[in-house]
Amino acid sequence: MSLEGKVAIVTGSGRGLGLAYAQELARQGAAVVVNDVDAATADAGVATIEAAGGKAVAVVAPVGSTETAKKLVAAAVENFGRLDILVTNAGVLRDTVLWKMSDEDFDLVINVHLRGTFTCVREAATYMRENSIAGRIICIGSPTGQRGNFGQTNYAAAKAGIVGMVRTWALELKKAGITANAVIPVAATAMTATVPYFAAAVEADAAGDPMPAFFRHDLGFGTSGDVAGLVAYLASDAAAGVTGQAIGIGGDRLQLWAHPEPVVTAYHDEGWSYEALEADFPTVIGGELQPVGEKFPPLPEELVRPAPSA
Ligand SMILES: NC(=O)c1ccc[n+]([C@@H]2O[C@H](COP(=O)([O-])OP(=O)(O)OC[C@H]3O[C@@H](n4cnc5c(N)ncnc54)[C@H](O)[C@@H]3O)[C@@H](O)[C@H]2O)c1
Repeated sequence: MSLEGKVAIVTGSGRGLGLAYAQELARQGAAVVVNDVDAATADAGVATIEAAGGKAVAVVAPVGSTETAKKLVAAAVENFGRLDILVTNAGVLRDTVLWKMSDEDFDLVINVHLRGTFTCVREAATYMRENSIAGRIICIGSPTGQRGNFGQTNYAAAKAGIVGMVRTWALELKKAGITANAVIPVAATAMTATVPYFAAAVEADAAGDPMPAFFRHDLGFGTSGDVAGLVAYLASDAAAGVTGQAIGIGGDRLQLWAHPEPVVTAYHDEGWSYEALEADFPTVIGGELQPVGEKFPPLPEELVRPAPSA
């Protein structure tokens, strides 16, 4: 087992993707701190790991505050003696278009995803540095953070911010031998179950049937279990040289996301004045404008499901 003797924290791991990460880390030999906001959910997650012969303990606390971050690291150390791996996965959605998004919708999503990632990683990295542990930080992003998505101002800000922080931490933690990477998952969970486009895949999964190849292969959309192997791999010694990356995974598909790079570089003596831009922008940059949002191919006819009635 690749993670024998290691100790991991997975935030928001009572169900969904987080539970699949916790289960796979435990299957590879790590003891796991399972965290969620609800005791029944967290305890159920722990029970599945113990039933499979793994070691786990529940910490019921909302991720976001420094207090919770300290509680999580303390639970790892007190119960299992150390901390090697942190997966920041806890998340909520409050989707709506910009002009309807309240301050509360924005702050809640930023607090759980962005601040929660910051506070937990700061606590874990501090512990790892002080104890000379070549740890693993794995933060969960989203295609929305990479490309934007209609109705997700708050979530796009948080998820893009997480990838920005990961790149910064890869630089700051390199000397300590700690890696920091972002995983960009796609999977059938409570979060995606209501998206009509994925209905046929979610339906197959709920029935215990394999998901249609169109979803698994073409869209990279599968089960939570399909994502978990990458998290365990990044946590292992085999991935010691992988840091600062954003890696997409879902269904049968694995992708490496590019870091933003300038697409066009152009110079103008004495700078780019308004007049210079008016004259040259259309020819220099106009033909290279970048697309936004995820582009999904049309669903094959047999996978179209009726829209749910309101
Ligand atoms: N499902 C997907 O396709 C997909 C795609 C991209 C990114 N993600 C990300 O993956 C992560 C997991 O999503 P999921 O699809 O499994 O969703 P989910 O809703 O099934 O699971 C999220 C878990 O986080 C918990 N949680 C919420 N707020 C919390 C808090 N403050 N502290 C601790 N736990 C909290 C929830 O109770 C839940 O158990 C999220 O960060 C999400 O943004 C999911």
